[in-house]
This record gives sequence, C-alpha cells and structure tokens, in this order.
Amino acid sequence: MRAPLTFLGIESSCDDSAAAVVRVGDRAEVLSSVVEGQVVLHAAFGGVVPEIAARAHAERLDGCVERALDQAGLTLADLDGIAVTAGPGLIGGVLSGVMLAKGLAAGTGLPLVGVNHLAGHALTPRLTDGLAFPYLMLLVSGGHCQFLIVGGPEDFRRIGGTIDDAPGEAFDKTAKLLGLPQPGGPAVEAEAAFGDAARFVLPRPLLDRPGCDMSFSGLKTALLRARDALIAEQGGLMVADRRDLCAGFQTAVTAVLAEKTRRALEVYLETTPPNPAFAIAGGVAANTPIRAALETLCAGHGVRFVAPPLRLCTDNAAMIAYAGIERFRLGHRDDATLSARPRWPLDQTAPAMIGSGKKGAKA
Ligand code: KG4
Ligand code: ZN
Repeated sequence: MRAPLTFLGIESSCDDSAAAVVRVGDRAEVLSSVVEGQVVLHAAFGGVVPEIAARAHAERLDGCVERALDQAGLTLADLDGIAVTAGPGLIGGVLSGVMLAKGLAAGTGLPLVGVNHLAGHALTPRLTDGLAFPYLMLLVSGGHCQFLIVGGPEDFRRIGGTIDDAPGEAFDKTAKLLGLPQPGGPAVEAEAAFGDAARFVLPRPLLDRPGCDMSFSGLKTALLRARDALIAEQGGLMVADRRDLCAGFQTAVTAVLAEKTRRALEVYLETTPPNPAFAIAGGVAANTPIRAALETLCAGHGVRFVAPPLRLCTDNAAMIAYAGIERFRLGHRDDATLSARPRWPLDQTAPAMIGSGKKGAKA
C-alpha cells in the first residue's frame, strides 16, 4: 500500500477560478472542490475577455483556496503538495494561478507541481472511476475537442481533433443565431427534443476523409443559411422552425462525433488493451443524444463506457490536484522557475492544431 497523498489543486486557465483538495490512497477522494464561474462578467461581450478573466482570477483565487481547505476540514499544514494548471490557456489567468501556487509553495515549503490542464481532463476517469491505462478519451467542450489514447500519467497520444471550432462552441454559436440563451448547449438540446431532425439535413464535415479529425465551423454557416432562407421566405422564424433547426444541427454533430469515435475506437483497439474503456469529458458530454450514441457504439465494440459526473468533467481544480499527484508519484517536481504556458500540447509528437476557439488557444 502506498502512503496517501493530499494535494491542493488550483485552476485558472479560462473562465473558472477553482481550488480543490484531493486525497489519493488506496482510492482517490475529492475532499472539496470549489469552482467560481465568470459567465456574468463576460456575458455582454459574447465570449471570454482575457483581461477581465485574469483580473477576476487574481481577485478570487485566494478565497477559493481558503474555502477549499475549509470544506475539506484541513489547513495548509495537512497537505503534501500543491498542483497548479501551468497551461494551456489564457495566459493572464494561468499566470494568476501559477503565481499564487508559487507563493504558497514558498511560504509553506510544500512541493509544487505544474499540471497541463488537458492532462487534468484526460486523467479524470481515473479519479472518478479508477480506469486502468490505456483508455481512449474524447475531450469535448467549448474549448477542446480531441481523441487521446491515455497510456500513462504523462503518455498521451492524440489521434485526432477539431481543426477549427470545438463542438460546444458550435452549440453556443447556433444558440446565438437562433436567439437562444447562453451557454447554448443545454438550450439547443432542449429545443431539439421537440424538433424534426429530418427537415434540415446539415453537412457532416470531414466524414468523407479518412482519420479522426473533425470540423464544426461549416455547420454554423449552413445553419445560418437555412435560417436566413426561412426569414426571407416567411419574414421570421416560427417555434417549429427553431426546434427543427436545433434538431438538424444536433443530429449532424452527433453523427460526426459517432463516426469519428468509431474510427478512434478502431485505432485504440489495435493496441489490444487488456480492459478496453472509453471515457468522455467536457461540457458537451452532458448532451443526452450524443452520450447515448457513443455509449451504444462502445457497447457494440465491447468497450466499457465511462462518463464522469459533469461537475468533474467541466473545468475544476480536483482534476488538477489529482493529475498533480500522479505526476508527483512519477517523481515530477517544479520550483520557482515554473512558467505559465499559453500553448502546451499534450502529445508533443502530434501535428499542431489549427485555429483558436472562443476560450483561447487550443493545444
Ligand atoms: O467543459 P465546459 O464547461 O467548459 C469548457 O469549454 O472548457 O464546456 C462548456 C461547453 C459550452 O460550449 C456548452 O454550450 C457546452 O459545453 N454544453 C453542451 C451541453 N451542456 C453544455 N453542449 C451540448 N449539449 C449540452 N447539454
Ligand atoms: Zn477545460
């Protein structure tokens, strides 16, 4: 049995200020997880404003840390280390977190571990479900979309991803085009439930090309055209039009994700994993039809399907604390020279991704 380790995690790479305490012994336990979102601060701007985000993180992070320790019933003296997101993300926000973590580490003498935000997401199925390596992972949110074969705490093979928008971003833009509230995903899903998906058959980009790369930016252009044609024809949108457009859009995204996941599963299964498993994380994992399609696909391939609870698959600091512990166990330590990295690809050998989403640079 290995001695349990208790880490504080700090996350500030986008628009959530977060702190959490995680303990890993025989099993992993989230002792506390505090997430302060900034949706209200950015609402008027139609996207995250990096400078506003950075200021908010600087003002709020220490309060998040205090609350996370309080809720865990611990003090700094009870910790074994401090893990912090050191990238990729909006640089001002990442810097706020890294500076706070360095200060805490210097003040307490605790070890400091810089964590890749995407590694945090990718290792979450181990925190929540104890998945064994290697497993296949689909990160799908407003800022991320990639398939990873996770072979170890620092072994990530990216086998495909979006070449432009992330699916969550496409949901958000669709909602905006149809006058629905943000975040768009839940609003579009709710409308789509009453819609006729066959009325507007929107494109399924990149399905005609081999591989697991995806593209979602063309979908919103197609949706815009369909919307404008309706407005020109009838002078506006009826309730049924909006529902049918949402259903057509969601069906197209689901079809693309399902087909690309099928191909990713093939690549993954070629590695003959002893306990094949597929995990989905990110805000879009909340979408019931998408989740159901991927779950069915996995069942057909004899692959275990895992979807961590949403609060741990959207941005949070528990995943950072957990990933920090995994890195620490591999012997990784950082010091005062730890720098904040706006870009930090998980798989250094994969070709660079194109484009940057509304939530900043994609890695
Ligand atoms: O993981 P997340 O909270 O933040 C990052 O993007 O990192 O994901 C938020 C994204 C938003 O774009 C939101 O519209 C999308 O996830 N989302 C959904 C649903 N719930 C949230 N997309 C589709 N269907 C949903 N039910
Ligand atoms: Zn994230």
